[in-house]
Amino acid sequence: MSILIKNGRIVTADADYEADVYIEGETIAAIGKALDYPADTVLDARGKLVIPGGIDPHVHLDMPFMGTFSSDNYETGTLAALHGGTTTVIDFVLQTQGKSLYDALNAWRSRSDGNCYGDYSFHMAVTDYNSETKKEIRKMVEDEGITSFKTFMAYKGALMIDDKQMVPLMEEVKKCGGMVTVHATNGDMIDYLIGKHKSEGKLSPLYHYLSQPEITESEATNRFADLAYYTGVTSYVVHMTCEGALNHVRRVQSRNQKVYAETCIQYLILDASLYEKDFEGAKWVMSPPLRQKKDQESLWAGINQGCVQVVATDHCPFMWEQKKMGEKDFSKIPNGHPAIENRMELLFSEGVNKGRISLNKFVEVTSANPARIFGMFPRKGCISVGSDADIVIFDPDREHTISAATHHMRVDYSAYEGWKLKGKCQTVLLRGKVAVDDGNVQIHKGYGQYIKRNKVSPIN
Ligand code: URP
Ligand code: ZN
Ligand code: ZN
Repeated sequence: MSILIKNGRIVTADADYEADVYIEGETIAAIGKALDYPADTVLDARGKLVIPGGIDPHVHLDMPFMGTFSSDNYETGTLAALHGGTTTVIDFVLQTQGKSLYDALNAWRSRSDGNCYGDYSFHMAVTDYNSETKKEIRKMVEDEGITSFKTFMAYKGALMIDDKQMVPLMEEVKKCGGMVTVHATNGDMIDYLIGKHKSEGKLSPLYHYLSQPEITESEATNRFADLAYYTGVTSYVVHMTCEGALNHVRRVQSRNQKVYAETCIQYLILDASLYEKDFEGAKWVMSPPLRQKKDQESLWAGINQGCVQVVATDHCPFMWEQKKMGEKDFSKIPNGHPAIENRMELLFSEGVNKGRISLNKFVEVTSANPARIFGMFPRKGCISVGSDADIVIFDPDREHTISAATHHMRVDYSAYEGWKLKGKCQTVLLRGKVAVDDGNVQIHKGYGQYIKRNKVSPIN
């Protein structure tokens, strides 16, 4: 199979030019002006952007969490991602405390393998670090291509590890060529505040927000960064939301520490006033919670300064009926919100169109940087000869409105209902196949491949 994309404007993290792209099989075979190659399919991209497929390195599909499962499974989640221009996702395997990493990996594979439309990879969340877990770290890196290890400094009693486990885990991960990532919030302080609010009868979603003030995140981010500095491990802070945490990251980056930061689309464009809508606020109950306008400004600045390298989603959807598990107690609302399909179009419309970030930066934070940081570059994250032909033909002028009635995520509400956007994914290619064209799906379930990732590179 060969495909020729004609007349498009190719935009990558560091280039912007007009050329044709010729694809043979799964990869890009040639890029040049007026390519005159015979092809099985010719796609006209005149007036359109031709960008690398998005990579969302923070999603939770079919994940057991807070007494239920996230409502998108690997089939619906990766297909919705493709509709929104994201061709690869990195999902989280969660170790069960008392069990092995391989027990968890096998359980996740039983749900994911053979079911994905889009390409997928895994981070391993270590929730119980001990002498047995230690032996599995190298195997994860070398045999499974899982080179990033997630830690939780919160969700006490379920996922949280303490500093006594964190430091030796960092040491072992560094030795094996991996990276430690973190949900950086102070679990003990949050636990205390949740208990306090509940004992005072303060049970609405607003108190989810008030139980996780900015200081819980900035303190943990600072502590994590210092522990990582001590061990020398490469590290990555997931879903960073606020000015206080960003300032710590900015400071430690200036001592030449390799710590990366990710924010998520919701923290850039939504704010905590949504928690004032009584129980409807449950739609945006996530951890960390939405913050203030001043934090949005900090995060946009952090992206432009290169302190924040990635914009992900933390996609973790729940049906409204599931959210209602916490109708009488905010601490029982399953944490998470749906965005896997909306990330690219929201960031383009709210970021590029509003002059907050450049087009190159848009590609950098949605595709190139996740590929570089997580060991997939240059196979993914760029438009180059030899790279996977994961490409989005993007119409920058097409206007549309987000709605649960038309989205493809398996969730019965939208966190962005009624948002009017300009800029839409028209055609999405995954490894040389047209996956979605004008909303029509042209691949089958199971086409998505598991991607083994490389070790952390000293130059990424
Ligand atoms: O609220 C969230 N973020 N849910 C998913 C789990 C996590 O903490 O990332
Ligand atoms: Zn988290
Ligand atoms: Zn998450």
